[in-house]
Amino acid sequence: MSTSGFATRRRVSSVLPDFPWDTIGAARARAAEHAGGIVDLSVGTPVDPVDPVIRAALAASAEFPGYPTTIGTPQLRAAAVGALERRFGTTGLDESSILPVIGTKEVIAGMVSMLGIGAGDVVVIPEVAYPTYEVGALLAGATAVRADSTVQLGPTAPALLFLNSPSNPTGKVLGIDHLRKVVEWARERGTIVVSDECYLGLTWEGEAYSILDPRVSGGDHRGLIAVHSLSKVSNLASYRAGFLAGDRELIGELLAVRKHAGMMVPFPIQGAMVAALDDDEHARVQHERYRARREVLRTAVTSAGFRVDHSEAGLYLWATRDEDSRTTLDWLADRGILAAPGDFYGPAGAQHVRIALTATDERVAAAAERLNR
Ligand SMILES: Cc1ncc(COP(=O)(O)O)c(C=O)c1O
Repeated sequence: MSTSGFATRRRVSSVLPDFPWDTIGAARARAAEHAGGIVDLSVGTPVDPVDPVIRAALAASAEFPGYPTTIGTPQLRAAAVGALERRFGTTGLDESSILPVIGTKEVIAGMVSMLGIGAGDVVVIPEVAYPTYEVGALLAGATAVRADSTVQLGPTAPALLFLNSPSNPTGKVLGIDHLRKVVEWARERGTIVVSDECYLGLTWEGEAYSILDPRVSGGDHRGLIAVHSLSKVSNLASYRAGFLAGDRELIGELLAVRKHAGMMVPFPIQGAMVAALDDDEHARVQHERYRARREVLRTAVTSAGFRVDHSEAGLYLWATRDEDSRTTLDWLADRGILAAPGDFYGPAGAQHVRIALTATDERVAAAAERLNR
């Protein structure tokens, strides 16, 4: 019997972490036994229907049979520039500073390699982080280093640094001064800063800032890329819709690579994205839905004896009972509630659980009732 060379080849998946969701199967099964059904707050997946304005735009773009372009339609890129200016006060962007992506997870996982970063290079990721930053570094063969402050990094000159404010999972927001210092530090070293801003439109207390805010960037986008997803702010996770904005040279390089790789956002989705980016009302309505759910859950979790840290923005409560997160996970599962253990996001998260706000009003009310029984 002949074996394929594949059997002996080093598997790419072997450098990647275990898929962490597999480790909470028992807690999920336990929560599902609850008489009132599981309240699944373990993932940040939208549950409210896609807005009719966006669905109409999707349908209106459905007739075109040809290939879409990687760079996206001029209308889409103009809509992205307009939305960033209106919603977050960015300046200095034009259509050459935007690149549509097929949801942002793929670009976060792929961009480190696509930017020519690899073995021997350091990629900085937050201490407690969305797992795909590390995956992007590992797929490129680079070394991922966890750090929340540049002081921790000493004299190294990382190739790339990921920021995520507001953060998944902690909901922490970085202030203007912090962001500006990171940008200055990165510029001194030639480090690319990639700022994942998918929760920027979901702030509850205070204000959150884009890396492309002139108070942060000084009006100079060189070395800076902002990553924007429509999944959360516009309920479009199923459409796979996002874009990059920032340094024209970096955007141009990613475009050149992605064109060859056939990474195109489907044309009807591009049409839907234009509608979503042009319309702020649906995003406002969704924001208010999450605000109400957050109030209910935060009150219930706090009354149940948890401490909620950070969580001033984003779609999660970063909660702790000052014990191992797996113990908290089981305590919640006994009440039919599933959360995500903080260790999914890095060793520093091991005493927290992440409780998502993305459940229907009915499920959120059920969770609150169980927590306070
Ligand atoms: C911090 C962060 N970045 C990126 C993503 C990916 O979003 P999408 O691929 O839907 O654009 C998520 C999804 O949960 C996230 O939490």
